[in-house]
Amino acid sequence: MLNGEYGEAVAKAMKVIVKVGESLGAEELVEIKHAHASGISYYTIGDAGLRFIEDLYRLGGRVRVFSTINPVGLDLSLKYELGLSREFVEKQMRIVECLLKMGFRVSMTCTPYLIRKPGVNEHLAWGESSAVGMANSYYGAMTNREGGPIALAAALTGRIYKWGMHLEEYRIPTHLVLIDNDVSLNENLNSGLIGYIIGENIGNGIPYIKVACKPSFEAVKYLTAAAGASGSIPLVYIENVTPNHKYASIDNVVDKIRIGKKDLLRMLKDRSFSKPDLVFIGCPHATLNELIEISIKLRKYGRVCTEAFISTSRIVYDEALKLRIIDELERIGVKVLRDTCPVVCPAFKKYKFIATNSLKAFFYLKRMYGLEVEVYSENELVDILCRESLK
Ligand code: F3S
Repeated sequence: MLNGEYGEAVAKAMKVIVKVGESLGAEELVEIKHAHASGISYYTIGDAGLRFIEDLYRLGGRVRVFSTINPVGLDLSLKYELGLSREFVEKQMRIVECLLKMGFRVSMTCTPYLIRKPGVNEHLAWGESSAVGMANSYYGAMTNREGGPIALAAALTGRIYKWGMHLEEYRIPTHLVLIDNDVSLNENLNSGLIGYIIGENIGNGIPYIKVACKPSFEAVKYLTAAAGASGSIPLVYIENVTPNHKYASIDNVVDKIRIGKKDLLRMLKDRSFSKPDLVFIGCPHATLNELIEISIKLRKYGRVCTEAFISTSRIVYDEALKLRIIDELERIGVKVLRDTCPVVCPAFKKYKFIATNSLKAFFYLKRMYGLEVEVYSENELVDILCRESLK
């Protein structure tokens, strides 16, 4: 591959992987089963990124393994409806078309594990920190948080450097996390807050969480996404969840953290409960369960009185469409977006104050765009959405 026997694009991709791998001290490559490329919104990569992807395609780049892509800067079915400029839509579509011609699946989601379920101990090369957190923590797979170009290069070569999360010695827990009995991990807001606190406290360590009962899939999704945002944690061992947690020794942890209700309340104490410009749910992309639950919660109120968006994947959207959940949410006034989210789509710049249930959205919308963002539980968001109609 490096010598160009598989074409120029593969040689270029392999050169990048070898260079980065050598600089990290990796000794060999490992074959991967699934690549997931992030960093493909024109909003975040601009003309340089567009050129890079088009060049790889022109040079003959084609994926060698199952490959998916992260959310992009628009909903492919609503190109101009969000008020995006012609230039933005055209350039974003050039990126998407190029990637699809290279063999990437029509995925555009940060929940690629709902498209192809990773196996235990399976090697992957995934970009997108929240997906990496789920792959390692929920499925017991092995992937680092790869940057967008590296994951793209891994898709074209089917290989990644064997380093970091691909090696057992990097997956040993460094911190023990004890959750007080007064905190339910099954409340998505709580699990996000816990993940956020863990990320802030241990940076890029490997936490091992002792839990009294098994958290839901969605709770793990919110927890790992938050831990990957406030810290850069690729793997969270959760008792009764992480497939290989029994083999993770906690004998050598360097520190212990205890998280109780008072810690969560401290993070929530400054919330204003005032009316936001926008309510946003679906970071990471909402699951079918979440869409069903929110539609049930909203059903009795007739119509929402605040703008509301839920981001989800195309695959979940189609399932929800069959079950008439999308119709129901749109009838209530909630817009369901595919392929994108407010962090990677510039149409959301116009909002000043956003309420969300996601600590990851809280982190990025505040830091990247300086928006005012507050976090609430789903029940609180329903109350905020319907407040006027409750009067
Ligand atoms: Fe996904 Fe966008 Fe959140 S890509 S994880 S919904 S920031």
